[in-house]
Amino acid sequence: MMNKPFPSVNQQIPIDSKFDISLHMKREDLIDAEISGNKYRKLLYNIKAAKSSNQTTLLTFGGAFSNHIAAVAACGSRFGFNTIGIIRGEEVKAFEDSNPTLQFAKKQNMILHYISRSDYKRKNKDEYIQYLRQQFGSFYLLPEGGTNELAVKGCEEILHANDREFDIICCPIGTGGTISGIINSSVSSQKIIGYSAVKDHELKEVICKFAHAENWKIEPSDYGGYGKIDKSLIDFINHFKSTYNIPLDPIYNGKMMYRLFEQIENREFPKGTKILAVHTGGLQGLKGMNWRIKQTQLPRLL
Ligand SMILES: Cc1ncc(COP(=O)(O)O)c(C=O)c1O
Repeated sequence: MMNKPFPSVNQQIPIDSKFDISLHMKREDLIDAEISGNKYRKLLYNIKAAKSSNQTTLLTFGGAFSNHIAAVAACGSRFGFNTIGIIRGEEVKAFEDSNPTLQFAKKQNMILHYISRSDYKRKNKDEYIQYLRQQFGSFYLLPEGGTNELAVKGCEEILHANDREFDIICCPIGTGGTISGIINSSVSSQKIIGYSAVKDHELKEVICKFAHAENWKIEPSDYGGYGKIDKSLIDFINHFKSTYNIPLDPIYNGKMMYRLFEQIENREFPKGTKILAVHTGGLQGLKGMNWRIKQTQLPRLL
């Protein structure tokens, strides 16, 4: 059965003493090689709920490089569920056998079902879910990105009592579940900064629905849009890895740390501030990104 992980370590990131800032990264990426970081947290209580309601199939949604799709596929094969991935974009099917995320999902026996981008927009509508139930039979539904009440409950276990020493907690945002859990288990003197990898105007609403406190803010860090990268981001990620021995994914954690370093350099935090940045995993995405940029002039991600 899927068990609660041990608390993950807070690794110090030594930065130039002239800034007088203490920075640590919570290595949630080390929880599990395949169900990594926030995915483990978001799936833990959902997997327990699926088991206790005797569901044998998990169905979820995602894009062609989705960390969530990869994690659900791994969960299925490890914990004995059939899995169905509803993938955005019918055209993606043509690349199924060369896209590293979809290849991995297939190896875990996930059934991949490709739908048009317009149908994908109906993914949260009851009648569309009903239609999927007619097509695939009974399943335990995990929404896109895995964000629901049980996912937030799992993310409430990211922070521990000894993390109260930090003034600022940083985490990346996609659908808003991870930051909501972190907010719920923070103390009011802490500030939670969510680095948004997406331009989603409903994000605030989602966070307000799940989070019970107001000690947070969203810092835009999508840098040209969701999933878009450029040479300076790649150089930053590669330099980060060779300097601190911490790999960062380019979609979430890479952009968060890039922006956070900019803020530190711009002296946006008072001297003496203690910052904890939560590494939410997503490292399977590195292979996918290297595959995507193969035909470009961009350097490879390490
Ligand atoms: C690695 C990684 N970090 C952060 C996030 C964002 O988490 P959330 O969707 O809960 O905001 C995601 C996507 O869900 C992710 O895959």
